Amino acid sequence: MRRPLIAGNWKMHMTLADARALIKDIDQRLGQLDGTSDVDVLICPPFTLLFPIAKAVADSPIMFGAQDVHEESQGAFTGEVSVEMLKDTGCTHVIVGHSERRQLFGEKNDRFARKVRAVTGAGLTVIYCVGETLADREGGKTRQVVDRQMSEVIGPDVPADRLVVAYEPVWAIGTGKTATADQAQEVHGWIRGNLASTFDQATADRIRILYGGSVKPVNAAELLGQGDIDGALVGGACLVSEDFTAIIAAAAARQLA
Ligand code: 13P
Repeated sequence: MRRPLIAGNWKMHMTLADARALIKDIDQRLGQLDGTSDVDVLICPPFTLLFPIAKAVADSPIMFGAQDVHEESQGAFTGEVSVEMLKDTGCTHVIVGHSERRQLFGEKNDRFARKVRAVTGAGLTVIYCVGETLADREGGKTRQVVDRQMSEVIGPDVPADRLVVAYEPVWAIGTGKTATADQAQEVHGWIRGNLASTFDQATADRIRILYGGSVKPVNAAELLGQGDIDGALVGGACLVSEDFTAIIAAAAARQLA
C-alpha cells in the first residue's frame, strides 16, 4: 500500500513568528494522534521561511519543501531561486506546475518539464501539479488536458522514486468546491494509467497521486478512501493547525483501518 502524504502549501502566507507558532501547534497535535507515523507530513512555506523552518521542524517528523524553483542552476535571473539553493536549506520536496503558476504567472508545460528535471536531478522529490479549469471540465476536456499536462512534462527519464503527482482541479482551489470523491478518483485513475504508459504498471503503482482543491477535515476521509488517492495537497486548511492535523488524522485512520 502506498504510504499517504499530506502536504500543506502555505502559498504567500505566514510571517516567521506565525510560522513557528503554527509548527509548534501541529507538532503537539501530531504527538497526540495514533497512526501518524504511517503518514508522511510535509509543509511548503515561502522561500524566506525555509532556513528557520529547517530548525523549527528538526526534532519533529514534519518534512518541508519549497513551492517553486527556477529551472537553471544559476545566472542572471533576478528574483529567482535555484534547486541548489533550496538544497542548502535541507528541504526535500519542491512543488512544480501549481495552477497558480500556470494561470497567474503564465508558466507552461515546457518550463515545468525543465523544472521537474532540475528538482529530481538534484535528488529532491518533485510534486508535479496538474488539473483542468472549469471551462475544460464543462467542455468535456478534463482527460485530454490532464493527459497533456502529464505527457508533455513527465517522461521515462524522470526518476519515478522522486515523483509525486498532485491532481488539483482549478475550479476547486480556494473556492470551497471540492471534486466529489468519484470525480477525483476517476481522474486519479487516468493519471495512474498515464504513468503506466510512461513507465510501467509496477512503477505507476508505486507513485503517489495527491488530490488538492478545498480539502478540509469534513471531506478528507472520503477522498482519502479512494483507491488511487494517496494523500492531499492542502491550501487554506493547512494554515489552521487543528484542520491540518485533522486531515492527517484521516490519513492515519485509513492506514489503521
Ligand atoms: P485550497 O485547499 O485552499 O483549495 O488550495 C489547494 C491548493 O492549491 C494546494 O496547492
